[in-house]
Amino acid sequence: MKTISDQNIIDNILKLKKDKNAVILAHYYQVPEIQDIADFIGDSLQLSQNAKETDADIIVFAGVHFMAETAKILNPQKKVLLPDLDAGCSLADSCPPDKFKRFKEEHPLHKVISYINCSAQIKVLSDVICTSSNAVKIVESFPKDQKLIFAPDKNLGGYINQITGRNMVLWNGSCEVHDIIKAEEVIRLKKENPDAKLLAHPECKDIILQLADFVGSTTALLNFSIKDKANKFIVATETGILHQMKKSSPGKEFIIVPTDEKCSCNDCPYMKLNTLEKLYLSMKNEKPEISLPAELIEAARKPILKMLELSS
Ligand code: 13P
Ligand code: SF4
Repeated sequence: MKTISDQNIIDNILKLKKDKNAVILAHYYQVPEIQDIADFIGDSLQLSQNAKETDADIIVFAGVHFMAETAKILNPQKKVLLPDLDAGCSLADSCPPDKFKRFKEEHPLHKVISYINCSAQIKVLSDVICTSSNAVKIVESFPKDQKLIFAPDKNLGGYINQITGRNMVLWNGSCEVHDIIKAEEVIRLKKENPDAKLLAHPECKDIILQLADFVGSTTALLNFSIKDKANKFIVATETGILHQMKKSSPGKEFIIVPTDEKCSCNDCPYMKLNTLEKLYLSMKNEKPEISLPAELIEAARKPILKMLELSS
């Protein structure tokens, strides 16, 4: 329930948005009150497309660092704000640039496809970027005999290998939020709810994906839950997506897979660092701001633009 002070903050954010010609982009894993105030809510691909197309002067990114960084790379002349600069990503952190550079050197014939959940430095080392919603398309844009490296998510990479029949070399990275989701919990929930369909994000382990009725990006999972005839869904991903699922289908039941009885560890601790108050303060003070060296922006932009071109 919204408190009076929440409403004050919301009114102030709306005023600042107008006065400063700012746009608020929010990922589905943000807390509900931020999703409700955003101009656009989306998955990583949609948000990067929104960031490329906006004519706002200030982009307020309610998400994590690599997302705001991508928005800055696409809009070097604009101010890009991230309400909490500590909102990082365990998956991006699982791929340090120096180690990845050596790994790449060990595979001189391979082209590199990197999942957008990586740092700008990893993007520079990549031929093209992908997200969970366009990964198959991006991989299939390469000839079948082209040797490929996929980084940094081994779970998504393994899943795409299965779908496309490729044999991409996988960097050994993962998302701490999705990787912790356990098959025992999923099997237990499936037994208790035989009428429910299991929806899973491809950052989950292979065993979870094999049990799933549908695998997709956050937007794809949301759309499936809206269009499918089932009235009950078990959801194996971050908890934030439930807000839009429940809003879009108030008559349906959604059960998030808990990581265990005591812990809801599938709340992304980085995404959840952003709060309404921090969002307001970032807009008022115009900081924390994402700033990157011009050469890094220039080099990292190429593989992102290639992705956007292949996805359009
Ligand atoms: P998508 O929203 O693109 O499916 O990505 C999920 C995610 O983990 C973002 O960090
Ligand atoms: Fe990174 Fe995982 Fe959080 Fe997404 S859910 S931001 S991949 S740690």
